[in-house]
Amino acid sequence: MEQINAVITGVGGYVPDYILTNDEISKMVDTTDEWIMGRIGIKERRILNEEGRGTSYMARKAAKQLMQRTKSDPEDIDLVIVATTTPDYRLPSTASILCERLGLKRAFAFDMQAVCSGFLYALETGANFIRSGNYKKIIVVGADKMSSIIDYTDRATCPIFGDGAAAFMLEPTTEDYGVMDAVLRTDGKGLPFLHIKAGGSVCAPSYYTMDNHMHYIYQEGRTVFKYAVANMSSACESIIERNHLSKDELAWVIPHQANQRIISAVTQRLEVPSEKVMVNIERYGNTSAATLPLCIWDFENKLKKGDKLIFTAFGAGFAWGAVYVKWGYDSDTSSSAKSGQNLQKTE
Ligand code: UT7
Repeated sequence: MEQINAVITGVGGYVPDYILTNDEISKMVDTTDEWIMGRIGIKERRILNEEGRGTSYMARKAAKQLMQRTKSDPEDIDLVIVATTTPDYRLPSTASILCERLGLKRAFAFDMQAVCSGFLYALETGANFIRSGNYKKIIVVGADKMSSIIDYTDRATCPIFGDGAAAFMLEPTTEDYGVMDAVLRTDGKGLPFLHIKAGGSVCAPSYYTMDNHMHYIYQEGRTVFKYAVANMSSACESIIERNHLSKDELAWVIPHQANQRIISAVTQRLEVPSEKVMVNIERYGNTSAATLPLCIWDFENKLKKGDKLIFTAFGAGFAWGAVYVKWGYDSDTSSSAKSGQNLQKTE
């Protein structure tokens, strides 16, 4: 029997209209544009500030655009995986809400929580469903409303994060394209360095937890930085080695957008020149599970069929990894705006 590969056949994305600038953040906490640009590399981030709208709102916009671009009918979709740490509700899943909003009748759907590595995990999971031979169209979404878990009185975390969503379509092919390999790792020793203290089953919400800002992200940035550089680099090296990839034949590295200095350190270790590294952190910040597909959404018109890409991410857990993809289509440049400006509206 011929081997079935899971190929990416399209991308859709969405970022909210509201732009939170460094100047505005400097009015909320003791920081400056210079510090944020110098230490993190973020100029602005998008914030979903409309009352009553959560992660599924952005996920729907992204998935709707994806379905239009791939000319997919709601009846065609078999499975929806939403990678998110900021679900609309504790229950039900954001994926189930998304199914309803997209009018999907036949799909099953679930959320996947691996924080900033969520999209990597979801991509490989979706690819495995395709490889099984039983699924024909799978939507994999990375979506996070990070502003809902950020303390805007904490200068150590509030400049870093933004809101956004993007999605890929996965379909089967017997050609040599698609999600070719994945190195995914988890190490629970990361808990003390990056977590949210309350709101889970260990520490339920109370007036005490509210008063003490315990529902927001806590991060020991320096430690996370160190592990991020070491582990993203080694996951990429493993992918390069076991797929016998020469660094010259790599078309792009798509790193998680957490810090420009992390991106530079990882790609320098890999000896990949900056022209081959997708970066949009300056405009969106860290959108957690959405960073990787948002990069592809932004840079889609630079991609050619057969391009060899490595996606890599690191986040709370710790959870990290790298995924090797052979890109499956030449993008229709008429349907996507200029690189870095892919802000098409969907209804
Ligand atoms: O996506 C999930 C994974 N997360 C990451 O990958 C994040 C990894 N970590 C980082 O990106 C960086 O560690 C941060 C951006 C979070 C922090 O940058 P840093 O260069 O590691 O700064 P630091 O935490 O070592 O702090 C250096 C100084 C401190 O002052 P003192 O103690 O030296 O006087 C901080 O209080 O910078 C201070 N500081 C700030 N100053 C101005 C921290 N935040 C700010 C700020 N503005 N916003």
